[in-house]
Amino acid sequence: MTSLHPMTERVCLVTGASDGHGRAVAEALAGAGAEVILLGRNPQKCEAAQREIAEATGHKPDVLICDLAIRSEVDRVADEYLSGGRPLHVLVNNAGLVNLHRKVNAEGFELTFAVNYLSMFQLTLRLFERLRQSAPARIVNVSSDSYKIGKLELDNLQLERGYSVSQAYARSKLAILHFSLELARRVEGTGVTVNAVDPGPVASNIGANNPSFLYTLARPMIRHLFPSAARAARTCLRLATDPELETSSGGYWRSDKQRERPLKNPDPALSAGLWRESVRLTGVDLPS
Ligand SMILES: NC(=O)c1ccc[n+]([C@@H]2O[C@H](COP(=O)([O-])OP(=O)(O)OC[C@H]3O[C@@H](n4cnc5c(N)ncnc54)[C@H](OP(=O)(O)O)[C@@H]3O)[C@@H](O)[C@H]2O)c1
Repeated sequence: MTSLHPMTERVCLVTGASDGHGRAVAEALAGAGAEVILLGRNPQKCEAAQREIAEATGHKPDVLICDLAIRSEVDRVADEYLSGGRPLHVLVNNAGLVNLHRKVNAEGFELTFAVNYLSMFQLTLRLFERLRQSAPARIVNVSSDSYKIGKLELDNLQLERGYSVSQAYARSKLAILHFSLELARRVEGTGVTVNAVDPGPVASNIGANNPSFLYTLARPMIRHLFPSAARAARTCLRLATDPELETSSGGYWRSDKQRERPLKNPDPALSAGLWRESVRLTGVDLPS
């Protein structure tokens, strides 16, 4: 594990921390002395991660259980966090999935959009005031270079027309990028930074929720050829901890480097439209 700058007395919340990249980020932050909160949907997996991280680092993280696909659950977990009175210095929005086929949850949301993007918007905005009060604070949003093939259509965000696994995933990651750049702009001067990151390929369990012949064939290769989660976590960890990046905001990072102009043709109207639509769908906005 790369050694990080000490994170003593820093409180860090990591979503999707029961597995893969998020778990590796959480473990490294705990190893650096941070107070870590693992947010995940599966109590058994979260408890196992909690136990293993405590054994590996000597710092036992806390656990918050939340299914990020469900808006009322995101609200409940935000309420729970806020009522605990704890500061929040680092929010790593990492949870994500891919869905081979279009699935809609009980609230009518397409799952990839709901988990990868909409929950990130909702949780971040619900916790934003706490981050601001705890400043200097950082938000790191896990996107992916696959955003490059995404198309954002405000009237078809949830792919009611033309669903494909690659477009649903890429679109959610493009939405994360628009959100991150727009949020960074809107919160400039608050002491809270916002960056998006692509961890690159990760030897993780992503896709395991889609049992298929192809996935069964590909899985050993993914685990063998892709970098480990601990290695892939480095860029995210740097954004979350490096003192030199304390004021760096509004960037998109990959392989430890900030990428110039991630949106080749930035479209402020599209970013603002996505924001408006996200406010409508979640019922939350930044405090005015
Ligand atoms: N793998 C790659 O090559 C790659 C490349 C670029 C970007 N990324 C991004 O990196 C992030 C982490 O992915 P990973 O590769 O580490 O995959 P992973 O091992 O499958 O981890 C994903 C995490 O998200 C959690 N999650 C999924 N749905 C959730 C929900 N409804 N509510 C709460 N938590 C939920 C999972 O929980 P469970 O443990 O309960 O499933 C798990 O903890 C994702 O945003 C992904 O898009 C991955």
